Amino acid sequence: MMSRIRSKPAYFTCRGGAFIGDSRELLSELPDESVNLVITSPPFALQRQKAYGNLDQHEYLAWFLEFAKLVHSKLRKDGSFVVDFGGAYMKGVPARSLYNFRILIRMVDEVGFFLAEDFYWFNPSKLPSPIEWVNKRKLRVKDSVNTVWWLSKSEWPKSDITKVLAPYSDRMKKLIEDPDKFYKPKVRPSGHDIGKGFGKDNGGAIPPNLLQIPNSESNGLYLSGCKVAGVKGHPARFPAKLPEFFIRMLTEPNDLVVDIFAGSNTTGQVAEAEGRDWMAFEALPEYVGASAFRFLEREQSPEAMKLLFKRVTSGESVNIEAYHTQSTLDLREDTASYGPLTMRSSGPAGTRLE
Ligand SMILES: C[S@@+](CC[C@H](N)C(=O)[O-])C[C@H]1O[C@@H](n2cnc3c(N)ncnc32)[C@H](O)[C@@H]1O
Repeated sequence: MMSRIRSKPAYFTCRGGAFIGDSRELLSELPDESVNLVITSPPFALQRQKAYGNLDQHEYLAWFLEFAKLVHSKLRKDGSFVVDFGGAYMKGVPARSLYNFRILIRMVDEVGFFLAEDFYWFNPSKLPSPIEWVNKRKLRVKDSVNTVWWLSKSEWPKSDITKVLAPYSDRMKKLIEDPDKFYKPKVRPSGHDIGKGFGKDNGGAIPPNLLQIPNSESNGLYLSGCKVAGVKGHPARFPAKLPEFFIRMLTEPNDLVVDIFAGSNTTGQVAEAEGRDWMAFEALPEYVGASAFRFLEREQSPEAMKLLFKRVTSGESVNIEAYHTQSTLDLREDTASYGPLTMRSSGPAGTRLE
C-alpha cells in the first residue's frame, strides 16, 4: 500500500502518520477508492455547539454530510465507514434529538452508502447525563448507548466475523465438552433447527451488534505524557476495543485505516498494533501533539516528552520510530523520510478549523 498525500504528517511510524488539519482538505488529497476503512467519532452535535458556536441540528447534518461524501469517494468498493454518534437531547427539554438517525438516512439516501449493520455501543461506565433530567428531576434514565453505524460503499463490504469471535460462555463450554449431556437436537418454537452441529467448537461465540465496552482504560503513557506537556487528555477518547473490533472484522493486515476526527488517535494506535496502515486527521495541533505519546515504547524524560510535543505541534514531521532506537535527547535529525506512506512534503501542515 502506497497511499500518496501532499501534506506531510506531524508525526509518523513505519505504518502510518498523523496529520494536523481539516479532514475535508486532507481527505481530498487521497486518491479515490484507496481506503479500506474509515472509522471515526465526530464531535457530537452538542459538543460542537459548545465549541464552535450555536449550530442548529440542520447545520450539523449539512456539515457532517460534507465529510461523508468525501469518505464515500475515497473508500474502496469493498470498503466500510464506521461512525459513532452519541445521542443528544433537544435544547432545554427532556426530548431526544433525532440527529443521529437523520444523518444515517441522509447518508444512505443522498450519499449512496448502504447500512451494512447498525451497532450499539453500551458503555457501562458512562456517567449519568444530562444532570438536569437524570439526577436532579429524575425524569430520564442514564443514556449509556451510542449508535455506531456501519456503512459500506457496496452491499458486499469486506468482512470476516471469525476475526472477532467472543469467548464462549461457561454453559456453552460445557455443551461443547459433552453435547449429549446438555442438549437434545430439536426444532425450536422459532423454527430454528438446532441440530448436533450446535455443540461444535467454532473457536468462539458470534458477537452481537451490542458491543459492551467500558470506557475506563488507563491510557498510561498517553496521560502521563499529557501531564508533562501541560495539556488535558482528550475528553472523548474511544476505548481501544471499539476500533479494534471493527478493524479486525473489516480489514486485513496492510489494509489502510483512516480516522478523520482522530482526537487522541486511539484508532492509529490500534491499527498500528494490528498491522494495518493508518492515517489520522485531526484539526487541533494540541491533540495531535499529545497523541504522539501513544506511540512511544517507554516513558521518556520529561524534557524529551516536552520536546516531542513541541516538535509535533509545530508541524516538524517527527519520525516516532527514532524514539524507539535513539537515546532521548538526541532526536532532532530524523525528519528525512516518511516511511511507507511516501508522503511528499508541501510545507508545514496546519490547516485549522475555523
Ligand atoms: C469525538 S473527538 C474524537 C476522539 C477520538 N475518537 C479519540 O479516541 O481520541 C472528535 C475530534 O474531531 C476533531 N475535529 C473537529 N472538526 C474537525 C475537522 N474539520 N477536521 C479534523 N478534525 C476535526 C476535534 O478537534 C476532536 O478532537
